Amino acid sequence: MTKRKKKRLLLGMFIGASALISGCGASSDTRDIVYIGHNQAADHPTNIALLAFEEFIESRLGDKYNVEVYPSELLGSQTDMVQLTQTGAIDICVASNSILETFSENYTLFNMPYLFASAEAYHGAMDDKNVTDPIFESTRDAGFQAVAWLDAGTRNFYTVSTPIHSPADLKGLKIRVQQSPTNVQMMNLLGGSATPMGFGDVYTALQSKVIDGAENNEMALTSNGHGDVCKFYSYDMHQMIPDILVANNKFLEEMPEEERAVFEEGFALVNQVEREEWVKAVEQARERAEKEQKVQFLYPDTKPFQDICMPMHEAFLKSYPDIQPIYDQIQQYNARYPSAAE
Ligand code: GCU
Repeated sequence: MTKRKKKRLLLGMFIGASALISGCGASSDTRDIVYIGHNQAADHPTNIALLAFEEFIESRLGDKYNVEVYPSELLGSQTDMVQLTQTGAIDICVASNSILETFSENYTLFNMPYLFASAEAYHGAMDDKNVTDPIFESTRDAGFQAVAWLDAGTRNFYTVSTPIHSPADLKGLKIRVQQSPTNVQMMNLLGGSATPMGFGDVYTALQSKVIDGAENNEMALTSNGHGDVCKFYSYDMHQMIPDILVANNKFLEEMPEEERAVFEEGFALVNQVEREEWVKAVEQARERAEKEQKVQFLYPDTKPFQDICMPMHEAFLKSYPDIQPIYDQIQQYNARYPSAAE
């Protein structure tokens, strides 16, 4: 049994009998299977970008690699997928930067509320290797590394029935947040009751009123159907949290240099395609949410939200002084690209 086939067997044990059966099946295909998992639907920019990656790698190295993209949490939640990437049971996955905070504290930086003053500042900083390298490399000892970032827009609050105009409106509401200490802290500071859970459980939790709302970009309304239940989406703009494409160290480091160069080109393509698709997808999501799902978009003054959250920056930098130089570089992007309101 080849190393890759063995891996498939292990993966099958994790995702269930059907994968196990297909993993054991005799196959004349000797190509290495590259397993990629993510939690978005088939029509999401993330999936479109990863399919472009599959096509690119197979067009260049198709005699050697068979790339398989598994969307919609088919390989588990983001936390599960990162753990599978750590052990090498899968090769690559997409994880929200929020989730990665529990694997390396350095990632906490990009989860800070109101870290970036504008989308331009966010994009500029994330494209700057001096900013991202110290963060992206920090999980190397944990068995994986970040190979690209993906735009996931701006995160905002949305609720089933309570319009959020100011932090006071969040009081007493149970709001789903991602499973990250920073997000829990932010939500509680803002006055809501933080309810951490995996992305795949949010729709049912909203529908069954276990939670009163959540926070995410506009795609969650349409691609994940949250707009079928939540009728108020409030642009408080609390975070711009990137998604991160992470890969198993051994998988990357054991391949010949020429092949690695092709994969690196492929990772850059994922970033490029996803960002192009993102702009179109958000526009369509807003239109669909408004017209078909009857979601009302609200534009509160963001300052009261920001004022409550800003002390989190200072506290974080005090605990992790090594991050200060990177934080300062981000401030330079903020100065260059201040928000439209300033
Ligand atoms: C966004 C993000 C995902 C993340 C999700 C969440 O959709 O792109 O990576 O899992 O938010 O709120 O969990």
